[in-house]
Amino acid sequence: MASALTLSLNNVEQSSLVTGATGFLGRHLVRSLIEHGHTVTALSRQHPNLVTPSVRFVSGDILNEHSLADATRNVSVVYHLAAIVPGKGGQAEQWRVNYHGTRLLLKSCIENGVKRLVFLSSVCAYAPPLNAVIDEDSPIGGGDSYGQSKAAAELEIANAATNDLSTVILRPSQVYGPGDSGFTSMLVSMLSGKLLFLAGRSPRPFSLVYVDDLIEAIVQAGTCPNISSNTLNIAGPPTDLRALASAYAAITHHTAKCVPLPISAVHLAQELRWFSRNLSGNAMRPRWKSYSANQVYGSVLLGGPEYSASRAKLALGFEAKTSIQKGLENVLSRDN
Ligand SMILES: NC(=O)c1ccc[n+]([C@@H]2O[C@H](COP(=O)([O-])OP(=O)(O)OC[C@H]3O[C@@H](n4cnc5c(N)ncnc54)[C@H](OP(=O)(O)O)[C@@H]3O)[C@@H](O)[C@H]2O)c1
Repeated sequence: MASALTLSLNNVEQSSLVTGATGFLGRHLVRSLIEHGHTVTALSRQHPNLVTPSVRFVSGDILNEHSLADATRNVSVVYHLAAIVPGKGGQAEQWRVNYHGTRLLLKSCIENGVKRLVFLSSVCAYAPPLNAVIDEDSPIGGGDSYGQSKAAAELEIANAATNDLSTVILRPSQVYGPGDSGFTSMLVSMLSGKLLFLAGRSPRPFSLVYVDDLIEAIVQAGTCPNISSNTLNIAGPPTDLRALASAYAAITHHTAKCVPLPISAVHLAQELRWFSRNLSGNAMRPRWKSYSANQVYGSVLLGGPEYSASRAKLALGFEAKTSIQKGLENVLSRDN
């Protein structure tokens, strides 16, 4: 199967649109598509500094139908990454961009005869409470406005799939890699400190995936002719903070002193953060007390469920090939 997929990648000349091309994942994806010889259109509100002669840049908002009509013209595959991710906007903007933006993009895809749409959803689309191991049959609905808007967008996409437009929905767990000013920077600053705070004394595993492994899956999702399932988790095997700290120490020879904190103190800190984020979104969710998004979907400190990626392995040949040590080495040695 893997060789058939590779063949399709090498032989099909593809014209692709990447939304969210200026973001952490979008920049990696555009580079990879160019390396595979694809013609790439990038849609973004700001001019991406990644533009090369092989990238057609369309300046515009995902909510602007004219920009979308222009961006989807003569494109066979759309990789839809544009979104307001947690911490980068309020709830109303999350709904506008993540849900309504996806609906408008779908309409343009259909009108312009796009053949395949690959949508970057998230494990945050699952509805809490979550089981210890989550596969793609687990119910969706999301726990906060980000996850809810992703789940609602997924339903629109699933309903729009036809013989003319095939759709693939990917649900990545937390991603890390070079060029990420969010989670990865926070992780490196935790690991490089003098003290490393842990929640309790036992390991609390959570799911991570290295950016290159995810990008390979995204490209496969856009290029392989037939796939057996069209909604797929993309996640590496669970890891934990102690494993990350020892990989970091092996690379840098820096060893932080581990300080176990009472789990209740960590929960309280997470709830306060969740509460303040909801307040700043001007609409406090009534259930804010019952969970915190981070601890539900996976947190460096508190751990989280395991997201099974066995269907992605079957459908796309997905493998989390990059070890934690190799991934961290790449993060520490590259700027972007
Ligand atoms: N990073 C992760 O760990 C992770 C995990 C699971 C799923 N995902 C999903 O993967 C996708 C990419 O994530 P990321 O980490 O790369 O996010 P990111 O760095 O925040 O990038 C988001 C992108 O969306 C674009 N965007 C936002 N609002 C827009 C609008 N109104 N019109 C047009 N473009 C707009 C931004 O473009 P501008 O330059 O115009 O602002 C930016 O390029 C998202 O859909 C996210 O939900 C990410």
